Amino acid sequence: MSDTRHGGDRPTPRTVLRGARLVDARGDHGIHDLWLAGGSVEGIDLGGDAELEIDARGLVATPAFLDPHVHLRTPGQEEKEDLASGLAAAAAGGFGTVVSMANTDPVVDDPAIVADLAAQAAALGLARLRPAAALSVGLKGERLADYAALRAAGAVMITDDGIPVVDSHLQRRACEYARELGLVIQTHSEDPSLRQGGVMHEGAVSHELGLPGNPAEAESIMIFRDCEVARMTGARVHVAHVSSERGMRVVEWFKAQGAPVTCEVTPHHLTLTDEAWRAFDPVIKVAPPLRTADDVAYLRDAVRRGVVDCLGSDHAPHTRAEKDRDALRAPFGLPNIEVAFPLLYTDLVLAGELDLARLLELLQGGVARVMGWPAPTLAAGTPADVVLLDLDTEAAVDPAAFLSKAKFSPWEGRALRGWPRVTLVAGRVAFSRAR
Ligand code: DOR
Repeated sequence: MSDTRHGGDRPTPRTVLRGARLVDARGDHGIHDLWLAGGSVEGIDLGGDAELEIDARGLVATPAFLDPHVHLRTPGQEEKEDLASGLAAAAAGGFGTVVSMANTDPVVDDPAIVADLAAQAAALGLARLRPAAALSVGLKGERLADYAALRAAGAVMITDDGIPVVDSHLQRRACEYARELGLVIQTHSEDPSLRQGGVMHEGAVSHELGLPGNPAEAESIMIFRDCEVARMTGARVHVAHVSSERGMRVVEWFKAQGAPVTCEVTPHHLTLTDEAWRAFDPVIKVAPPLRTADDVAYLRDAVRRGVVDCLGSDHAPHTRAEKDRDALRAPFGLPNIEVAFPLLYTDLVLAGELDLARLLELLQGGVARVMGWPAPTLAAGTPADVVLLDLDTEAAVDPAAFLSKAKFSPWEGRALRGWPRVTLVAGRVAFSRAR
């Protein structure tokens, strides 16, 4: 994960984070000065001169978060997001590394695009970018992309996310190829023939509102297929954005059999329900859709029980004009990477439903395990990717202040705690917010 080119030729000042409470996967280490040098953690309570001193009193210092699932819309859809805005938004959310999805225009199915994304992102020096590449050429679900060449160019994951792979034989071949190369396949598990034109969860609310529904079974059936093919081929398959109780139960069933599957949940599926559609604002139109309160309760329980491996934001920016269309024509997806931690800290940890350590695990070690990366800690010698979290100050979500180009949010105005104050990547400040 260490990347000496990150941030280009900018100098890396020897930095001290004064008086932070240090928390990582090894535990709560209490209050110390954390020293960073040369892009790595140097150690705690060291002496000597600091070129940069950050007052971290009252803040928690912990490894910057990892996100296996973001849409940065580059190349080709830069009116929605670009690398500079998306990676700045990620850093503002406390993320030091994100995996970008391949459903761009052109699709990331060409090694040259992968290499270009990685090089452009490294020069920015914001959050680190690890590109995913497409499972099928052009996301058409017909021919496999060249995973060996894509991996050689820097792709860390294979996925047609946004578009389900309909052809089960193609999914099998993709899994066999990815397994040979040790690449993770991420699924978008929805059966399009059952989903039809559904724009929201199919149930009492969709019937009442008269909007086309997308049943939970469209998800659970496809998760079953995807997990069965994972088991059959031995490929590492990561089930993205599980939204329903039935879908999660299928993942659990396969995990109990030792199938090589992992899964993620999103901030929105953990905090919002289909009742939000009563406002008829397609800001909450996402795929898979927001489900019922019972589904949310089940997902939260699966998080607590350790069935859920990690969080994936599925940060999916669109223009305001696109999201202002009606419920049928607005695109699926919402921006959330800048509020993911405060939202979950407030709604789950402060509400007494989840330990802080478990939430951090979902954003750090859990993602690393899914991706086959080293677990991030604050140990000396590890990359200096660190976030300083303010767990005390309450502030309202203000989409106008988002660094993402998508300046709208279903959580607008919500008073949250847990705001990232500073994010350092490779020992340099990638984001800071005044106290
Ligand atoms: O809501 C979503 N938006 N779900 C996806 O899977 C794709 C994403 C997008 O690309 O906008």
